[in-house]
Parts: sequence; C-alpha cells; structure tokens
Amino acid sequence: MASFKLLYVTFTLLTLLSSSTFCLGYPGFNFGRGRGGRGVGGVSRPIGGQRFSGLSPRFYSQSCPQANDIVISVLKTAISKDPRMAASLIRLHFHDCFVQGCDASVLLDDHPTFTSEKKSVPNKNSIRGFEVIDEIKAKLEQACPQTVSCADILALAARGSTVLSGGPNWELPLGRRDSRKASLNGSNKNIPPPNSTIQNLVTSFRRQGLNEVDLVSLSGAHTLGMARCTTFKQRLYNQNGNNQPDSTLERSYYHDLKGVCPKTGGDNNISPLDLASPITFDNMYFKLIMSGKGLLTSDQVLLSGKLGKTMQLVKAFADDHTLFFNHFARSMVRMGNIRLVTGNKGEVRKNCRRIN
Ligand code: HEM
Repeated sequence: MASFKLLYVTFTLLTLLSSSTFCLGYPGFNFGRGRGGRGVGGVSRPIGGQRFSGLSPRFYSQSCPQANDIVISVLKTAISKDPRMAASLIRLHFHDCFVQGCDASVLLDDHPTFTSEKKSVPNKNSIRGFEVIDEIKAKLEQACPQTVSCADILALAARGSTVLSGGPNWELPLGRRDSRKASLNGSNKNIPPPNSTIQNLVTSFRRQGLNEVDLVSLSGAHTLGMARCTTFKQRLYNQNGNNQPDSTLERSYYHDLKGVCPKTGGDNNISPLDLASPITFDNMYFKLIMSGKGLLTSDQVLLSGKLGKTMQLVKAFADDHTLFFNHFARSMVRMGNIRLVTGNKGEVRKNCRRIN
C-alpha cells in the first residue's frame, strides 16, 4: 500500500512538472540531481541552457568581460556588512520585472514626467538596496562606460545574492536595456499584496506570463529576508473579519509573532520570513510552510489554498532541496525575461536613478 502511494505521488508530480509550460526534456536543462546547483562565490557549475531572443549570457563578453566580477565584489562587501542585503537585492529584481518588465524602472527617482515607483504601496518604507546598485553602477561606469544596463545589474545582483547566500547558480541571459519611464500605477497594480488568496497569486503571475511552478519556486526567495508586522498582522488579530487569528498559523509560532507585533503599534517591527535560517538560501521556507509556519498569508496559501498543483510543489520542494534549486534557477531566468527592452529601444543609463 505504502509503495503504491509513493508511486502515485511520484507519478502525479512528474505529470504536474511536465505539463507546465516547460518540460522535462528542455534542451540543456536537467531537472534531476547532478547538474549545476549549489555554490558559493560564483564558482559552481551554472544551471543553464535556456535561450531567449535578444539576450545572451555572453552579451558583455567583449564589451565588459569583468562585469560579473565587479558585481560580485561589491555584493560580497555589502552582504558581509548587512546580511539582509542579499534578500533585498533579489526582491528588487522581482519588483522591477513585475512592473513594465525588467527595465530598471524601479530604480528611477521622481521626474517631471513620472512619479517614482519607490512611492508605491508595496515599495514605500520597504524596498531597499538602491545604494548597493549605485555602487555597482559607479564601478561599472569606470571600467566600461555606458555599457552595462541597470536592468542587467539588477539581474546580476539577484543571481549573485542567491549564490553568495548558498543558493543555486545559473547561466544568466543579458542584454536588457533601461526604460525612460517608471509606473507608480503599475507598481501598485502588479505586485501582489501579502494577504493575497491563492487565486489572486496565480492570476497575478499569469499576467506576467508565469505559471504555478514559477509562483511556488519564486516564492521560495522568502527563504531569505524579513517582513514588517504590517504585512502579516491581520493574521494574528483579525484574519477573516471576526477578530480571530488565521487558523492555519501554527500555535507556538502565532504566540511568538504576537510578541513581535502587538495589536496596536509596532507596524515597522520586523520578523524573518524563514525563522529557521533567514540568511541562508535553502528549502527551509517550504519545510516551515509544511508545519504551519509560513509568515505571510501568501506563503501559507501555497499549501492551505487547496490548489493541488501548488500544494504538491510545496511538498516536493520541502522534500528535495535540489529540485527546489533547479526550479528556482529556471524561474528566475523566466522572470528575468518579462517584457524586455532590447536592441536600440530604451537606453543604458549612466546613473540608475535618472534617465540620460
Ligand atoms: C508571491 C507573491 C509575493 C508576495 C505577496 C510577496 C510579499 C512580500 C512582502 C509583503 C515582503 C515583506 C516586505 C516588507 O515588510 O517590507 C516580502 C519580502 C521579500 N520578498 Fe516577497 N512577495 C512575493 C513574491 C516574491 C518573489 C517572486 C520574490 C523574488 C523572487 C520575493 C522576494 C522577497 C524577498 C527576498 C523578501 C525579503 C526582503 C528583505 O528582507 O529586504 N518575493 N515579500
């Protein structure tokens, strides 16, 4: 009976993984163990082989071969001073890509013709890492003037931060160009809120051309970093409008969180998204969800939302960190490919905060 069950679970999982928009036989990409994977300092074999029109992992191989080394050296210093910075930089790439594509719009300050995305509800008092991007850009401008776009810097910083935190490495397509405008409205509309239902999350990711596998694997970025009380307080005191806590929240974790986030005040107090290992990129996030210790509603509903696909993926990633790493790498490339500006459109900004 037990072996039948195991066979059934394995079969449904394989069907699920192969029926999404990628397939197990995708050229150059291996979902099993053994290829690519873990590495620190950018020395591991990268997971790779996905090709996207207009981008290439060798885009700067002639014009700025040292680009990635410069990014990694700035990241190493920044993350050793502030270990949370790795999380913040990964999130910055996400908040860039979900708003008019991966075009560094999130980095622009206010301009007479548009308002900065930094003022949107999801970003205000929350998004961080701009100074690190400025430092990378300044060093790259010295080494290779007006060559490496701010959008590519965000993608390189997200990958470097993942690797330096113990996560997977991947082959990263490059050649994005920077937008000449930002969209405050787009930022408010397209970045899903933390109290999203599973249906809202799926819809929000679909709008960006991403599927349920991308949703679950990319949510795994919450293996790093912190969240403010204001983003999950509703779960502690009034989840459904009846002054009761969220019933999916594990009891002792619920009591601990109440200690950090009182009913009134303390909205900017912070708690780790992965309480077990907040500065290590691992699959603990999924294990915690399995035991009712996901911090945000949007984390826990991947399991409790009763959507078969996401439930099975949470379980699979909790059981197998290599599976999670491979999917995370692949989904980061897919996210990094959203609505690109390439060729002679847009520009390569000299300063990531302003259009040229
Ligand atoms: C699935 C929908 C998602 C929702 C609803 C969501 C929501 C949030 C919220 C509310 C926070 C805390 C912000 C604060 O308190 O200031 C946060 C933090 C974070 N998010 Fe997400 N997120 C989602 C997906 C993602 C994705 C796709 C990524 C990256 C691939 C990501 C990476 C991060 C990271 C690394 C942090 C910690 C940042 C830090 O400590 O500075 N999130 N997210």
